[in-house]
Parts: sequence; structure tokens; C-alpha cells
Amino acid sequence: PRPILLTRHGESRDNVRGRIGGDTALSEAGELYMKKLANFVEKRLKSERTASIWTSTLQRTILTAGPIVGFPKIQWRALDEINAGVCDGMTYEEIKKNMPEEYESRKKDKLRYRYPRGESYLDVIQRLEPVIIELERQRAPVVVISHQAVLRALYAYFADRPLKEIPHIEVPLHTIIEIQMGVTGVQEKRYKLMD
Ligand code: F6P
Repeated sequence: PRPILLTRHGESRDNVRGRIGGDTALSEAGELYMKKLANFVEKRLKSERTASIWTSTLQRTILTAGPIVGFPKIQWRALDEINAGVCDGMTYEEIKKNMPEEYESRKKDKLRYRYPRGESYLDVIQRLEPVIIELERQRAPVVVISHQAVLRALYAYFADRPLKEIPHIEVPLHTIIEIQMGVTGVQEKRYKLMD
């Protein structure tokens, strides 16, 4: 069985400020996770002949992959975080205050709600299709370094979780979700590398 390791990028400067979207670098805690992740991956994949590291095109995932050496790295636009459109760069509080109707519609139906000029979870799920096909075809381990909404959708696919749960699945920072696809089905382990 080959493992797929799913992780969010290390904490970003926007995460610290509570701002969604954006393309900021890592916070200090995020940089620490970046090092711990490289260590973990090195140990976990030591006996593997090949493996690959997949990131989004946003710098917080590319930076997080930085210290991992010895494996090819591939950037996928399809792994970029949900596009928050006109709300990109805002905090949830700012959205609630300045665009209360948008805030309420998202709360009512987070799966189908599409940010003005941005995406919905359903849009994200759809654009992930080629990534999933490629993941299924891989024979070697893959480390996927991506973002909260995207990883919820990817995880739900492998863990066979219903569509309506996807926007609410817990995918915390600084935690690796290992998925093993074997003959007996899918097995899952979580490694929390930091508090
Ligand atoms: O806050 C981090 C983040 O990745 C944002 O960039 C993104 O908009 C959000 O999480 C997605 O989570 P939710 O769908 O719960 O708002």
C-alpha cells in the first residue's frame, strides 16, 4: 500500500491576522512546522524509492515544501485555496459587518455558496477532479501540501464522506493526515506535529 500524506501549509501571516485568501509568507510558527514536516517526510519516506511533493501555486505551500529534499516537486493551480473573490483578504468579522447578506448566505449553505467573483466548495470539488485522477494513478507516495477547503474536499473523496459534510470537516494546521490505500480499503492516521 502506498501512502498519501495530506497537510495544510505552515501557519501564514494571514492566518495569524484571521484574513482569508491572500498569498502571504509563513509566520514563525509556520516556519517551525515547515522544518518539522521536512523531518517527518524524510523519516516516513526513507525506504521509498520514489515519491513526489505536490503544492499549490501559492507561496505559503511552496515555502512549506522548501526544506524537503530528494523528491520532485510539482505545483498545481488546482490545489490553490478556494477563491474568495471580492472577500479575499478580509476577516470573517469584516465580511459579517460589511456584507451581512453574503455572510448569511454562506452560513446557510456553505457547500453551494459562491463568493462574488470567486468560488464555491462545489467549484473546488469540480476542479480537483484531475488531481484525484492523477493521485489514483500514482504508484509512489505523494505528499500534498495545500489549503483548508481543498484538503477538506480531497480528504472527503478518500475517506468517502458525504458531500454535505465537506465544508465542515476538521483539517487543522500543523497536522499530517496519512491515507493508506490497501486491498482492505482506506486507512487513516493523523500526526499532530505542533500545538
Ligand atoms: O483561513 C484559512 C483559509 O484557508 C482561507 O484562505 C479560506 O478562505 C478558508 O480557510 C476556507 O475555510 P472556510 O470554508 O471554513 O471559510
